[in-house]
Amino acid sequence: MASCPHLNSSMMLSKPKHPIASFCPLDFPNPQHLSSLSFIASPIGGVKSVRRRCRQTNQRCSLQILASMDNPKKPLKIMISGAPASGKGTQCELITSKYDLVHVAAGDLLRAEVAAGSENGKQAKEYMEKGQLVPDEIVVMMVKDRLSQQDSNEKGWLLDGYPRSSSQATALQAFGFRPDLFILLEVPEEILVDRVVGRRLDPVTGRIYHLTYSPPETEEIAARLTQRFDDTEERVKLRLETHNQNVESVLSLFEEITVKVDGSLPKEDVFAKIDSALANLIEQKNTTMLAT
Ligand code: AP5
Repeated sequence: MASCPHLNSSMMLSKPKHPIASFCPLDFPNPQHLSSLSFIASPIGGVKSVRRRCRQTNQRCSLQILASMDNPKKPLKIMISGAPASGKGTQCELITSKYDLVHVAAGDLLRAEVAAGSENGKQAKEYMEKGQLVPDEIVVMMVKDRLSQQDSNEKGWLLDGYPRSSSQATALQAFGFRPDLFILLEVPEEILVDRVVGRRLDPVTGRIYHLTYSPPETEEIAARLTQRFDDTEERVKLRLETHNQNVESVLSLFEEITVKVDGSLPKEDVFAKIDSALANLIEQKNTTMLAT
């Protein structure tokens, strides 16, 4: 986190003015100095770093404020974002199997409504077929309800494909959901179409396959694989357009807690990077817990 040799994870304020503050003790010998720093808290809550020069070593050190970690004992709250077919669902399978978080995927919730033939599902399908965002009136409450369930509260959550607009982000904040980390998968556009067209789903296990990159393990699985109704070359281009129009507005709200990961690598390598970011986050939370 910091280049200053005086700063290590055990140097924490015992009663910080801000939820978590780690600092160079030479530069900030008095906790009261924290209040005089000129930082602006992230609108969503999140990690805020303020860089200062250490008076003794003249090296730069960081003051880091993790506004979202108001209670470090709370389970992890992670968001994952990226273009269509950037690998969100694939990584969510790997993350949940290691960290046992509740996977809440906006797209899956919507497809369940479509499959159930509900009024929301009928309306949602019209937008999904055009590769457009389903209106907030449908999506926002759907996600809020799922995040409010007991398992999400107890185990923590992994929110996939939400928020996709600043209005969705604002709604999330208004309901009191504050993520610890925002993972952004970056994949060049030319790879995405190929991924979408070759994607297949196992309706029995819910696992995601790709005919080339992640083929089914057995003939039996191969025989039952299905394809999503919006997984055509034409539709993925529309979905990509929608993504490109909205991604910046969401990113700017979460930039303080964003980790960008190269999603074009093999899925195991992508996961290794995410895993390391999550391990760091857990370590930070544990250190904070010990210090409070
Ligand atoms: P959604 O279901 O969320 O679709 P998406 O964002 O387009 O993303 P995908 O599910 O297509 O891809 P993914 O990133 O999960 O990739 P995957 O892991 O499967 O949303 C669908 C629609 O619902 C939207 O268009 C919109 O209409 C609506 N919607 C959803 N959320 C909304 C919201 N918040 N507000 C409003 N509307 C909303 O991987 C893809 C393929 O690549 C797989 O075959 C996989 O095996 C392969 N693959 C994955 N990783 C790798 C790798 N590293 N190397 C090689 N192959 C890989």
